[in-house]
Amino acid sequence: MIIAIDGPAGSGKSTVAKTVAEKLNFRYIDTGSMYRSVAWKSLQKNTAFRDEDAVADIASKVKIELIPGKDGQLVFVDGKNITDQLKVEEISRGAAIVAAQPMIRDIMTTQQRKLGQQGKVVIDGRDIGTVVFPQADKKFFLDADPKERGRRRFIELKGKGQSGSTDLPTIIKQIIQRDHEDRSRKIAPLKQAKDAILIDTTHLSVDQVVEKIIQIITPSS
Ligand code: DC
Repeated sequence: MIIAIDGPAGSGKSTVAKTVAEKLNFRYIDTGSMYRSVAWKSLQKNTAFRDEDAVADIASKVKIELIPGKDGQLVFVDGKNITDQLKVEEISRGAAIVAAQPMIRDIMTTQQRKLGQQGKVVIDGRDIGTVVFPQADKKFFLDADPKERGRRRFIELKGKGQSGSTDLPTIIKQIIQRDHEDRSRKIAPLKQAKDAILIDTTHLSVDQVVEKIIQIITPSS
C-alpha cells in the first residue's frame, strides 16, 4: 500500500505523514528532504544551484539515507547526519531551484520510486500523487492559509534557534514566493491530483488531520 501526501510548505504534510506512518507501522519517506539534501551537497561543493549539469552529477552520486529517528526522520548525506541543517532559508531556496530542473527531478523520481515500491509507505512531497506514484492507493492534498503556514514555519525555525533575525512577515512572504515557484514550474508543478482528497488544515490540529486520514484509509478504525 502506498499513501501519497502532497501539499505546499507549512501545510503540515510532513508531521502528518510521519504520524500516519507511525500509526500504521508504515515507512515514512519525506521527498522534500531529498531535494534539500541535493541543495546541501551542492552548497558544500560550491556548485551553483542553477548549474543543472553539475547539480545532476551531484544528485546521481550522492548517497541520501532517510532513517526513522525518535523525533522524526533523520537525513544522512554521504554518511553525515545533516538533519538539523536542512530547514534553513538558504537550503529552502536552493531546494526550490534544484527541484525545478528536469535532470534532477528524473534522478530523484527514480530514487523515490525505488524507495516506495516495497509498499507499506507514506510518502510526502509535491508531485507524489501526480508523477512519482500516480497509482498510489490513497492520495491526500493538504493545504492551509499562507499566513497560518508562515506562522507554523516561523515557530518551527524559532524552536530550532534558526529563525535568526527573520520575522514572521518575511517568512510569510518567503512561503508565498516558494508556493509560486513550486506551482508555476514547468515540470511536475505542485498541484492536487484529480483523485486526491483535499484537506484544509488551517483550523485543524495535527491530530485532527491524522485522525481524518486514518479514518479514510481504515474506515473501521
Ligand atoms: O517539502 P519541502 O519544503 O521540504 O520541499 C523542499 C523543496 O523541494 C520545495 O521547494 C519543493 C520541492 N519538492 C518538490 O519539488 N517535489 C517533491 N516531491 C518534494 C519537494
